[in-house]
Amino acid sequence: MPVVVLVGAQWGDEGKGKVVDYLARKADVVVRFQGGNNAGHTLVVGGEKIILHLVPSGILHPGKLCIIGNGLVIDPQVLCEEIEQLKQKGHFRNEARLKISERAQLILPYHRMIDVASESRKGEGKIGTTGRGIGPAYADKAGRTGLRFCELKNPESLVRKLGAAIAEKNQYLVKICGAKPLDSGKIIEEFLEYSRKLSGYAADTSRLLNELAAKRKRILFEGAQGTMLDLDHGTYPYVTSSNTIAGAACVGAGLSPRLVDRIVGVSKAYTTRVGAGPFPTELSGELAERLRERGGEYGATTGRPRRCGWLDLVQLKYAARLNGLTDLVITKLDVLSGIDPVQVCIGYKYRGKLLKEFPAEIEVMEKMVPVYKKFKGWRQELGKVRDLADLPKETKSYLKFIEERLEVPILAVSVGKEREEIIVMSEPFARRD
Ligand code: IMP
Repeated sequence: MPVVVLVGAQWGDEGKGKVVDYLARKADVVVRFQGGNNAGHTLVVGGEKIILHLVPSGILHPGKLCIIGNGLVIDPQVLCEEIEQLKQKGHFRNEARLKISERAQLILPYHRMIDVASESRKGEGKIGTTGRGIGPAYADKAGRTGLRFCELKNPESLVRKLGAAIAEKNQYLVKICGAKPLDSGKIIEEFLEYSRKLSGYAADTSRLLNELAAKRKRILFEGAQGTMLDLDHGTYPYVTSSNTIAGAACVGAGLSPRLVDRIVGVSKAYTTRVGAGPFPTELSGELAERLRERGGEYGATTGRPRRCGWLDLVQLKYAARLNGLTDLVITKLDVLSGIDPVQVCIGYKYRGKLLKEFPAEIEVMEKMVPVYKKFKGWRQELGKVRDLADLPKETKSYLKFIEERLEVPILAVSVGKEREEIIVMSEPFARRD
């Protein structure tokens, strides 16, 4: 059955964009199911760098249908800009290739303001959000006061609902955030413009997806962020506001779990995290700097330097279980060339005990000390390798250890930024079709 869900197995930024780009060639449909423009998928196509925040990466492949599911929070301004950019670069000539769920939530200007204001009020304890209004938009969804994409289809009710929502939020902005009230007339004008530009993309995407699944079309779900940023299962409260694990694909797109066939987790050959919160295997000093520079570890959305550390197999095992991974993709293996030894975390020490499971309490996460296994490094550059057999023997034993510990087979290994710099062991769509 050709339904594949792809998720980040760490704290986001695993290089999912490139893997989705690869798998999208074999897919008919690419679907985003959670998050918003806090995501930033960087793709290098023919030397040209393209960063997508909302539109699924499949858009770069002519003829593929792209769906933005109901589980997203959509900033219409960002969406308009992204569509414009794609059109200008010649990647989006047929508008029928993009469908957006009528049930997706809208990010409004006050969500962005509240996000930034609440972060600055938190001071030291801030989460380090992307400031895109993600948390406040999901809070309104859960509080049943959000506005949905379908509102853009009906300008009359849009004006009424938007006016009421702004009046309500202005009280909060003024009294709690100490900000100036928003100009409701100006925002309504802007949203009427978005309504003209975007309402044509609105669709019942759950119905569409189910019809496509019934026709055995190949469907690829493109996860954003990563397992450890999941609202329920991540390093709470240092998480994003959506569920990022594979189970969320069904909720966020309106497709039954019965239809999912394979679940692919993406992990770097080391670990990074952007924003605040526990990161057990974090490195500092020269080694961290080396990974950051060589790996280009700067956020695609905010440009912030990413924190860097060793691969954490306790964390990855947790991710494998939560997602039910059937396959693993390791990215940025080339970045480790020249580092000796290479280390991986296989347990944590906490108050004299060995922890083999990822804990729930933030206080434990902060205090536990990783236990490492050392691997001999390799000097060879890997960018040109296209066959697993041609990797240095040290690299092969590193990969083998990961595979055996996680009990998940490695599907592919990425060895560089460019599309073709990848070693593929098997094809998830081809295998069972
Ligand atoms: P928010 O999603 O903007 O609310 O941010 C919450 C946390 O998730 C912060 O630590 C962000 O840095 C992190 N985050 C959100 N989106 C991404 C992403 O796409 N990659 C990596 N980290 C992210």
